Amino acid sequence: MLNVILFGPPGAGKGTQAVKVAEKFELVHLSTGDIFRANIKGETELGVLAKSYIDKGQLVPDEVTINMLRGEVEKNKTAKGFIFDGFPRTIPQAEALDLLLKDYNSAVDVVVSLEVTEEELIARLKNRALTSGRTDDADENIIKNRIQVYKDETFPLKDYYTRRGIVKVVNGIGTIEQIFSDICTAVAGE
Ligand code: AP5
Ligand code: MG
Repeated sequence: MLNVILFGPPGAGKGTQAVKVAEKFELVHLSTGDIFRANIKGETELGVLAKSYIDKGQLVPDEVTINMLRGEVEKNKTAKGFIFDGFPRTIPQAEALDLLLKDYNSAVDVVVSLEVTEEELIARLKNRALTSGRTDDADENIIKNRIQVYKDETFPLKDYYTRRGIVKVVNGIGTIEQIFSDICTAVAGE
C-alpha cells in the first residue's frame, strides 16, 4: 500500500492536487471535508451535526470524524493505497489513523506539506466564495477562524510526522501543474 497525506492550511490546494495525485498513483482519494459536505447535501444525521461546526469554521469532533474515516477506509479494503486530504487534523486523529493502517499491515508513507502564505490563502478562499457556495468561504471572519484553528490544532501534526522523517515540503504557490509535478516527485521518492 501507498498512503499519502496531503497536508496544509485551508486553501492550500489540497483538494485540487489530491484528485490529480490519486489518478496518477491509483489511490483512493478521501477528503473528510467533501464527505461531510455530501452528508450535508443529503441531510443525513452526520450532515446535520457536521454543519453546525463547519459553518463556524470549527473542527467536527474527533470521535465523529474518526468513525467516519474508518468506515471509508473499510469500504476500500482492496485499495492500492489512499490519499488523505483534510485528515488527520488533530493528534488524536493521527494516532487513530496509525492504528487503523496497522490493521492493514501498513502505515503513512509520506506527508506532503503544501506551504502557502496566509495572504494568498485568504485571497484564494474569498475568490472561491464567489462560485463554491461553501458557507465557510462566505465570510472572511470564518476563513480567518479556519486558519487559526489550523495553526492551533493541525499545524502541530507537522512535528508529529517530521519526527518520523516522512514530511516532504512543497511550495504551494505557482501553477497547478508545477505544484503537481513537485508533489509527484515527493511521493515517488518517498
Ligand atoms: P475541508 O473541506 O478540508 O476544507 P479546508 O481544509 O478548509 O480546505 P479547502 O478545501 O478550503 O482548501 P484546499 O486545501 O482543499 O484547497 P483547494 O484545492 O480547494 O474542511 C472543511 C471543514 O470540514 C473544516 O473546517 C471542518 O469543519 C470540517 N472538517 C474536515 N475535515 C475534518 C477533520 N479531519 N476533522 C474535523 N473537522 C474536519 O483550493 C482552494 C482554492 O484555491 C480553489 O478555488 C482552487 O481553485 C484555488 N487554487 C488551488 N491551487 C491553486 C494554485 N496553485 N494557484 C492559485 N489558486 C489555486
Ligand atoms: Mg479541500
